[in-house]
Amino acid sequence: MTSSDLNYLTVALPKGKLFAPSAKMLADIGYTAEGLSEKSRKLVITNEEEKIRFIITKTADLPTYVEYGAADVGIIGKDVLLEEGKDVYELLDLKFGFCRLMVAVPQALQQEKLSDYAHMRVATKYPRVAERFFSSMGIQMEIIKLNGSIELAPMVGLAEMIVDIVETGRTLKENQLIEVAQIHPATARFIANRVSFKMKFDRINRMVEDLKTLMEGGVNGENSSC
Ligand code: PRP
Repeated sequence: MTSSDLNYLTVALPKGKLFAPSAKMLADIGYTAEGLSEKSRKLVITNEEEKIRFIITKTADLPTYVEYGAADVGIIGKDVLLEEGKDVYELLDLKFGFCRLMVAVPQALQQEKLSDYAHMRVATKYPRVAERFFSSMGIQMEIIKLNGSIELAPMVGLAEMIVDIVETGRTLKENQLIEVAQIHPATARFIANRVSFKMKFDRINRMVEDLKTLMEGGVNGENSSC
């Protein structure tokens, strides 16, 4: 099974916070499959009637599946696209999953300006984003890649600061961290493989148009965060 089968459209959905709103949005325009659930142990779920396959991937891996054509299209956060830098078409801002990439520090370590943090350690799930951001400011930092619970790092002395996404701000607050710089806002994006977009243009384009119509009609209506 590969997405090169022209009869099928393979849609990648990420595990995690974007899964439910993404699956709902696609279901609202008629793209769904029986048993499609984040909890499913089955990672490929097919709707034979509609010739749609859903694959469920780890969030950070989703752009890779789309870049290589293992999936024709997918839904993923802009934060992940910025970090992974994969060669995919970003077709639509789906305007849910609102969050922002930012820099935060423990209150006690707050400095006057960003350059005062030079050479400190930054813990992050987004090492490329962090590197690019600090380099663009002419600041050299030591970047430490982690896979989650980033806010823990400054609390136990692994790093002085973090680069992470913030949604409600609750995690920062509960760990006495304050935001000192914004890097980029992020929302969910509808992406496509470059070859699939040409080979399956009618189907993918119809999906984009249906998603746009849905958003205009406010059917999705939920400002869910990422
Ligand atoms: C994300 C992010 C923050 C938190 C922000 O983590 O890395 O920790 O959500 O949300 P808030 O501003 O609403 O508090 P996630 O829950 O994805 O888990 P992780 O830390 O294991 O990556």
